[in-house]
Amino acid sequence: MRRKVIVGNWKMNMNLHQSQKLVSEILNGLGKESKVELILCPPFTSLFEVNSLIKNTNVKLGAQNMYFEESGAFTGEVSAEMLKSVGCEYVIIGHSERRVIFNEPDELINKKLKAALSNDLKPIFCIGELLENRENGQTIQVISNQLNKGLDGITSEEIKRITIAYEPVWAIGTGKTATPLQAQEVHLFIRESVAKKYSSSVGENLVIQYGGSVKPENSGELLSQKDIDGALVGGACLKADSFLSIIASA
Ligand code: 13P
Repeated sequence: MRRKVIVGNWKMNMNLHQSQKLVSEILNGLGKESKVELILCPPFTSLFEVNSLIKNTNVKLGAQNMYFEESGAFTGEVSAEMLKSVGCEYVIIGHSERRVIFNEPDELINKKLKAALSNDLKPIFCIGELLENRENGQTIQVISNQLNKGLDGITSEEIKRITIAYEPVWAIGTGKTATPLQAQEVHLFIRESVAKKYSSSVGENLVIQYGGSVKPENSGELLSQKDIDGALVGGACLKADSFLSIIASA
């Protein structure tokens, strides 16, 4: 059976002190026997500290972005190896805020995925359609295109280390959630596409998370869908009580 994975994407929130406080509140509220895999993705400036706070727990650390080059004159960028050196196991790649605000094209996202994989990081690869895509009936076409371009050249061994996050852009930070049925439909399409490209067992084992206004009120129903294996949570992960309720619902 696929594991349930809950990821907290803090985005550009939480200074060092706030990060320490949030992590200790989350750790205090976590059940010891939780079967859920929990990943925290604080901003770069808190990675080192959060890593030391979660030591000796089952909580994992992820970054929100990286650059594909190993080192050099790339002012403002951070490499996969740097992320590893502060304890990251995961990295979010291709988040819609990177795609839309920072104009990251699929080709760049593909390079980042490959660089993360070759540095032993596990990518959380984000895809999702814009509102206009959905309204024009292009959701499946957009998802298919992002999958094909993002996964270009990625081997059947490498895909096993990738988690996919389906985040409809119109549902991010808007309070509008995809209905469980809308999300399930796209998740199934993603699973079938990956199965077709690689193998049915790769498709069957692929962890696909949903993201976009996930909150305690809707997480249970979303996570009970057959092909929804977890959540990528933004706003609701910034308060320990709402994040813990989402974890409990998984
Ligand atoms: P919200 O949960 O704030 O809608 O953000 C979702 C998201 O983008 C997580 O990566």
